[in-house]
Amino acid sequence: MGIQITPSILNADFARLGEEVARISGADWVHVDVMDNHFVPNLTFGPTMVEALAASTDLPLDAHLMIEDPDRLAVEYAEAGARSVTFHVEAARAPVRLARELRSHGARASMALRPATPVEPYEQLLPELDMLLLMTVEPGFGGQKFLDLVVPKIRAARALMDKHGVETWLQVDGGVSLETIERCAEAGADVFVAGSAVYSAGDPDRMVAELRAAAEA
Ligand code: DX5
Ligand code: ZN
Repeated sequence: MGIQITPSILNADFARLGEEVARISGADWVHVDVMDNHFVPNLTFGPTMVEALAASTDLPLDAHLMIEDPDRLAVEYAEAGARSVTFHVEAARAPVRLARELRSHGARASMALRPATPVEPYEQLLPELDMLLLMTVEPGFGGQKFLDLVVPKIRAARALMDKHGVETWLQVDGGVSLETIERCAEAGADVFVAGSAVYSAGDPDRMVAELRAAAEA
């Protein structure tokens, strides 16, 4: 699949979301950060908002659920039109069942790990997942500093994927910018979320192209 750039709209202007998404037409996906004020101390979108966004753009939506009880709630985001749905393993009770349920609803199934959650215990789950998300900040807010301590985990996850011969994509999210994207790509990530780097740029689409070029270098 190659390198994919997935801007997060968390740092976009929420009063003009349709226009903001139109400013990243060169992106591969739109990353939608769903927060519930319980799993993380912040509150953002729900399924109704995801449904409206999905109808407003040709880009596929990548819903990142930072919520409690994804076993019960994640499927609603697939039904709302998100083409990829990511749940956090720290919140999921039955991650295998949940991944299978997401796939059966036509979504790509993805699982996220907070920075301190190790990847090795989940090695056997990789074939059940279309994507693994490694958080490179503590989830909850945009604009935080990239955590370098996660880079060895990116490398370890890539090695496990190679070992199992799976097609699972490896996404990184948090503090990804022109300064940090190369070390993530070098360690083996192939899908890059960038929020503040894209939306604080004067020309978001141009930043998407620059991030892509840096990751491909
Ligand atoms: C953080 C979110 C990220 C956030 C990234 O909890 O999951 O997607 O929007 O924003 P930046 O790129 O600014 O760290
Ligand atoms: Zn995110």
